[in-house]
Amino acid sequence: MDWIKLNARTIATSFLALTLGAGAYHAGGQTLLAQSTSQPESGTSASMQDWWKNAVIYEIYPRSFQDTNGDGIGDLNGITSRLDYLQGLGVDAIWLTPVYPSPDVDFGYDISDYKNIDPQYGTLADFDRLVAEAAKRHIRVIMDMVMNHTSDKHEWFIQARSSRDNPYRDWFVWHDGMGQTSTDKGVPPNNWQSLFGHSAWQWDEKTRQYYYHKFYVQQPDVNWDNPQIHEAFKDIIAFWLKRGVGGFRFDAVTTLYEDPSLADEGVVLGKDGKPVINAYGDPQLDNSKTDNQPGLHPVMQEMRVAADAFNSNKFPGTRVLIGETYMDNIAELAEMYGAPEKPEFHLPMDTQVGFINKLDVTVFRSKLIDVETQIGHNIPLLLFDNHDNPRLDARYGDGIHDTDIERVLSTVLFASRGAALFYYGDEIGMKTTPPARKQDVKDPIGVTGWPKEKGRDGERTPMQWDGSANAGFTKGTPWLPVPPSAATINVEAAKADPKSLLAWYKSLIRLKKTNPAFANGANLMLDTENTKVLSWMRQAPGAAEAVVAVNFTAEPQTVNLAASGAGLQAAHLKTLLKTPGGPVPRSLAAIKLGAYGVYIGEVQ
Ligand code: NOJ
Ligand code: CA
Repeated sequence: MDWIKLNARTIATSFLALTLGAGAYHAGGQTLLAQSTSQPESGTSASMQDWWKNAVIYEIYPRSFQDTNGDGIGDLNGITSRLDYLQGLGVDAIWLTPVYPSPDVDFGYDISDYKNIDPQYGTLADFDRLVAEAAKRHIRVIMDMVMNHTSDKHEWFIQARSSRDNPYRDWFVWHDGMGQTSTDKGVPPNNWQSLFGHSAWQWDEKTRQYYYHKFYVQQPDVNWDNPQIHEAFKDIIAFWLKRGVGGFRFDAVTTLYEDPSLADEGVVLGKDGKPVINAYGDPQLDNSKTDNQPGLHPVMQEMRVAADAFNSNKFPGTRVLIGETYMDNIAELAEMYGAPEKPEFHLPMDTQVGFINKLDVTVFRSKLIDVETQIGHNIPLLLFDNHDNPRLDARYGDGIHDTDIERVLSTVLFASRGAALFYYGDEIGMKTTPPARKQDVKDPIGVTGWPKEKGRDGERTPMQWDGSANAGFTKGTPWLPVPPSAATINVEAAKADPKSLLAWYKSLIRLKKTNPAFANGANLMLDTENTKVLSWMRQAPGAAEAVVAVNFTAEPQTVNLAASGAGLQAAHLKTLLKTPGGPVPRSLAAIKLGAYGVYIGEVQ
């Protein structure tokens, strides 16, 4: 599944539109906003406040990471047992997809109690231990915060659906049907659909009204027009902040509000002028009334104030707010940061770059320039993968050069400016492994949409730690089968191979953390007419300039970065990192790259 397509947003390709802002300067024919280059010393209060600006964040799908009690389901103690591995990788924070009590219709995204841990994952004491052990290794724990909907088994909804005059009734979104009478339920109030297929309205027979659910029927949307909802979520956030979490990833935030007019959404038409039919057999809607409505901004300002109250100079310093923000364009993404006097997210996810899903240099360059020029002085958060999309091999690979292509993508991820987020298993090149038969599907959308939509099981398979029967994930029966590729693609094998993708990830992360140009230098595109090789430079005052050249093709390429207009004239080029076996260039004027080759050097 392609989550962006599922969201049914038309991704407008925004081409280079450069804005000249305060402190702007030119280099290499490109206009950039000058970035702050002050690098606080580690351990000072400033670094505690700024840790997120160059952060490496690792997404864990806890169910699939490490099982310790043999039930085939990953758990918190499993994550704790793997903290040394994560520290070795160089991550600053781990984001856990939901571990709260849940009936698991949407594997944790249907929450029945926001202030507890689901017993299958452990206890609050296990959670506290995880946070403490992670802190010892300078790793923060980021929780998922699902504020658009609860589970239908949450006490709030149980109360709400018990009678129309229950005090919780107005915590959810209820409407009469069209043409409803005392004996006839009529039809749903409008044409709005669930992103998981079919009408977004569910008839409740007992109280004779429809409730709204943007996701599964078992995930009723809460009513953000009700001030009590605001207070309830601020209270939940405080509960976890007091336990020492490093922040939150806000789930589906763009869906918090719906247009109060209840007007129908538009039907997306194909090139033939006919409605596009999605994997669930429904006409594709444009989401114009149920996504990215203005109300979400005041909510996020409120959450930011609530979270900022917990910032301190002690670990974990700034509590970071990350947004699940699939936006149509960079202007909409820029809005998610809020205004300086009314900040919202620290790090709304930039899905513009990572989900291009095609190795097209021109589009990559354009999107990367967007993020350098169109979000003011804010910090980008790049990512290429998550638990809702097929893994990198399925979206970018060619089946022959997958590892080299994954080197290309990780180079863009870690050698660009800002924070970087990646998904468990990407560092070893785990393959997307969807179920072969409908009866094996666990993710309900894979049942509704089979065979066009096989669901998200394929990107949620157990972490591959070693070559043993269950890849070191469990001693029991894994909740999803371990892919056959685990026999060769696993952490143990990767650790033994200095040329492995894992070694590449570690080297890139080390570079990002320790080299001043990569840690916080400006990011300038070079050789901007080239359609085969993406090149850029990182530049921090007082530090040597660094250049990066990445071949997006299977054919060898040579680039001349001395002639690219950035004023680079290298007397000497020191190699910092290159694809194993790749040539060592003698000068900036002739950097040779093999198929999907990467070269990173320092200009001396
Ligand atoms: C986005 C999450 O990433 C996805 O896994 C989930 O199904 C939906 N939001 C609904 O919470
Ligand atoms: Ca377990």
